[in-house]
Amino acid sequence: MVKICCIGAGYVGGPTMAVIALKCPSIEVAVVDISVPRINAWNSDQLPIYEPGLEDVVKQCRGKNLFFSTDVEKHVSEADIIFVSVNTPTKTRGLGAGKAADLTYWESAARMIADVSKSNKIVVEKSTVPVKTAEAIEKILTHNSKGIHFQILSNPEFLAEGTAIQDLLKPDRVLIGGRETPGGRKAIQALKDVYAQWVPEDRIIATNLWSAELSKLAANAFLAQRISSVNAMSALCEATGADVSQVSHAVGKDSRIGPKFLNASVGFGGSCFQKDILNLIYICECNGLPEVANYWKQVIKVNDYQKNRFVNRVVSSMFNTVSGKKIAALGFAFKKDTGDTRETPAIDVCKGLLGDGARVSIYDPQVSEDQIQRDLSMNKFDWDHPLHLQPMSPTAVKQVSVVWDAYVATKDAHGICILTEWDEFKTLDYQRIYDNMRKPAFVFDGRNIVNVKKLREIGFIVYSIGKPLDPWLKDMPAMA
Ligand SMILES: NC(=O)c1ccc[n+]([C@@H]2O[C@H](COP(=O)([O-])OP(=O)(O)OC[C@H]3O[C@@H](n4cnc5c(N)ncnc54)[C@H](O)[C@@H]3O)[C@@H](O)[C@H]2O)c1
Repeated sequence: MVKICCIGAGYVGGPTMAVIALKCPSIEVAVVDISVPRINAWNSDQLPIYEPGLEDVVKQCRGKNLFFSTDVEKHVSEADIIFVSVNTPTKTRGLGAGKAADLTYWESAARMIADVSKSNKIVVEKSTVPVKTAEAIEKILTHNSKGIHFQILSNPEFLAEGTAIQDLLKPDRVLIGGRETPGGRKAIQALKDVYAQWVPEDRIIATNLWSAELSKLAANAFLAQRISSVNAMSALCEATGADVSQVSHAVGKDSRIGPKFLNASVGFGGSCFQKDILNLIYICECNGLPEVANYWKQVIKVNDYQKNRFVNRVVSSMFNTVSGKKIAALGFAFKKDTGDTRETPAIDVCKGLLGDGARVSIYDPQVSEDQIQRDLSMNKFDWDHPLHLQPMSPTAVKQVSVVWDAYVATKDAHGICILTEWDEFKTLDYQRIYDNMRKPAFVFDGRNIVNVKKLREIGFIVYSIGKPLDPWLKDMPAMA
């Protein structure tokens, strides 16, 4: 029986391995992690991450051919194929600080693999890593190998949170990069055989190692660039009276462009886009390509601009101050159908409002108070470490309350900011909400999900990103 071990039981390792276990009953899959609470949660009824369909898959396989364990060394030493899906944070100190990937966790995983292995292994990079990481890992493994043979593959993960299970069951493509040697080709084939159990052959792409590593960074950079492009247009729409939804609909009808990923919003978030682009920028700079680096930098700058612009719209509309005012934030996760808050634009928006003295009442159907308090008190980039190693500020942010109901969050509020596109926010009883708010009552829709006309009829002053401005907002400056 082929044995697979995955180091890192996170958003990638957990769902990916659960689907492999589901589709390959003859393979034994162990997911290991240094975080005891995380593994305990994977073994409980309350999984550590929320992902539609995940619980079903885990329940079908757990205890049969899918195991979650903290006994990292045992499972690594027994495995034929080892996936590494550990954190790859942005460096906050030293060479490349603020851009380069910190490979501490990766390196320690590689050294541990070398230490405990007693048979030949295929080691698969699942984490997103800078180009040529495989080369470094290969060196660590071979220099510590005691005669054991390691083959390194790059198999970046393209799942999107919120649709991870569907993405894994029906991937657009599976990318496998490996050495162009007989040993490398054999390893690629071994991993191909795993995916081929449910993925059509023509969707499994084999490349060299560096192409696979770079393709992942490139794909995320292209996706983020689309969002920044439409967000840049949204600012121009507001200035000119065009409607960004109409513009993106018209643009997306061009089959060369396509309709997906063209929604204007308060900005992109999530653990990958910013981190991966920063990584790309660093690689460009290291390779003497400042013009290319600057091109990609702009994607992040526009994203920051969009978040700032949103906060400025809120503050300027409300008589240039939100000091002492209650603002309800509906949604905190970086997108709907996930509880993930890593790099969510809600953090910057809430911090901006708090900076102006607001009291913020937050409701998100999937995010806990503890998580929100952590996010609002953590320094930039500190989130991307195993939970027990995250630096924590000892004090909670006092002007923040976290509630479990949109109606409680909005009661007596002066304004509402919609920060995540949860479906339930589309069908709230906005008349009831309006009746319980201070007047004038404002809605700032950072995801363009509310019916603007209906809300204006109720009496709200509404700001929707990239849409023709409410007369109230027309004379209010919203630039930084
Ligand atoms: N989240 C996504 O949507 C996504 C998509 C594609 C790729 N990625 C990439 O995949 C990687 C993992 O991302 P994630 O979202 O799953 O992160 P995560 O923080 O959810 O999970 C990483 C896990 O690795 C564990 N870990 C760290 N060092 C370890 C070690 N030495 N031994 C055992 N366990 C260790 C941590 O405790 C943590 O549980 C990152 O490189 C990320 O960029 C993420």
